[in-house]
Amino acid sequence: MTSPKKVCIKTYGCQMQVYDSDRMLSLLKPFGYTQTEDPTEANLIILNTCNIREKAEQKIFSELGRIREYKKAQEAQGQEYLIAVGGCVAQAQGDEIVRQAPYVSVVFGPQNYHRLPEYLTKVRRESSWRSPEGVAAIQNGSPHRCAPRDDVPVRKHHVDVEFPVESKFDYIPAVSETKASAFLTIQEGCNKFCHFCVVPYTRGAEYSRPVKAIIEEAKHLVGLGAKEITLLGQNVSDYHGDDEKGNPASLAVLLETVAKELPELKRLRYTTSHPRDITDHLIECHGSLPQLMPYLHLPVQTGSDKMLKAMNRKHTIDLYYGLMEKFRKARPDIMVSSDFIVGYPGETQEDHKQTLQLVQDCIDVGYSFNYSVRPGTPASVLDQVPEDVKTPRLYELQDLLRMKQLLAHQKQVGLVNEVLVEKKGKEPGQLIGKNPHLQSVYFDGDESLIGEIVPVKILAAYQNSLHGELIEA
Ligand code: SAH
Ligand code: SF4
Ligand code: F3S
Repeated sequence: MTSPKKVCIKTYGCQMQVYDSDRMLSLLKPFGYTQTEDPTEANLIILNTCNIREKAEQKIFSELGRIREYKKAQEAQGQEYLIAVGGCVAQAQGDEIVRQAPYVSVVFGPQNYHRLPEYLTKVRRESSWRSPEGVAAIQNGSPHRCAPRDDVPVRKHHVDVEFPVESKFDYIPAVSETKASAFLTIQEGCNKFCHFCVVPYTRGAEYSRPVKAIIEEAKHLVGLGAKEITLLGQNVSDYHGDDEKGNPASLAVLLETVAKELPELKRLRYTTSHPRDITDHLIECHGSLPQLMPYLHLPVQTGSDKMLKAMNRKHTIDLYYGLMEKFRKARPDIMVSSDFIVGYPGETQEDHKQTLQLVQDCIDVGYSFNYSVRPGTPASVLDQVPEDVKTPRLYELQDLLRMKQLLAHQKQVGLVNEVLVEKKGKEPGQLIGKNPHLQSVYFDGDESLIGEIVPVKILAAYQNSLHGELIEA
């Protein structure tokens, strides 16, 4: 018998985190947990964390301080309140979390969340346990000591940041509901070791799920009402999961298989790719598969060959320009988005100008960040570009990116876009959805249209969205 309990999950970072959080909810359901958005009324709070940049990591530690107060209030009323920290900060900083926040009960890495119910049971079983020396953390099976912080009730923690031999995918139950636009993780981890990035250390080595498991999950999602599926991974362009015969299938083959096996699926997307892995076959898919949406996220980070080399990206700017030409030939209306790191160690004004040139020439939408030092990565020990040099460069790049995005929006004015309706807008009677180029479109319509794909004539373009009117069928 399980008694009803509430879980609140806060998700940070990339789309794979959203996928993982949804699976955590499915895992916890049989244990009597229902979801709440309100952390003060929960019995379990899970922080699914990201540490791609320093700010993302700091956020977690300040959030934990707030949550501790909720815990005290709930426990004062005799309610259980367990705190679990998962995701990439947990993986990288498991011990530090337990040291700074000894009231956390479970710390688990991104590859271990299928074991969460087991950890919760263990924590509950051992919660009356007290140690005269302080709090024991279990890591790699052997207890070690952490100093007690203060008067919070001492509770045994479970820290699991090992990379287990079994795949978590074999243990997580399917979701029982989905949005019209669903995520499906097909690949995890990264072997590329770009010199600025923590992902290879937090998500581990690359692993591709077999084609069969992906098709089954895609069918399940479509059965639940998904109209669009985005295939996810840190490096989906390097996907090489087993096909039916046990041979590695490429992303292009997987996309073709999904399109063939799920004729009722209206939209297909994939993210994120690396320029180094893009094949002609993948580019051809953008011309041959109508389900594959005209949008590509292909991070380049910089427009300078010298910086690409320093970052260990292992391709040239010429290769990127060449790819853009081929993608646009295969799908002339494709929208290209990218990521940029500004002020990587060694970046000069000339390198920065080359980044601006690349954006000018071939990018429609961009996400840009100041380089953030990540402990343990090769770039962390290099001489750093000062903040007062970095930040004006970032602003200059962001101004240009904003202009490019507005231009991309303006191109849609007067056209009819197929919009996948996601939710109600801010104004009464307003709906918001996404067009094939992943641009946000808002228009007036009945909320029964949520989850449907409808034609909308675009009337006006703004910085972050498009405004249109529904075309009656
Ligand atoms: N796998 C993808 C990117 C994953 S991380 C790729 O290869 O491009 C998402 C983005 O975060 C990166 O594209 C990069 O722009 C940014 N990023 C990663 N590490 C960073 C760091 N140390 N400082 C600033 N931005 C970083
Ligand atoms: Fe990080 Fe590079 Fe791997 Fe992308 S390819 S996840 S940036 S190491
Ligand atoms: Fe962040 Fe980990 Fe994703 S560091 S971006 S949550 S892979």
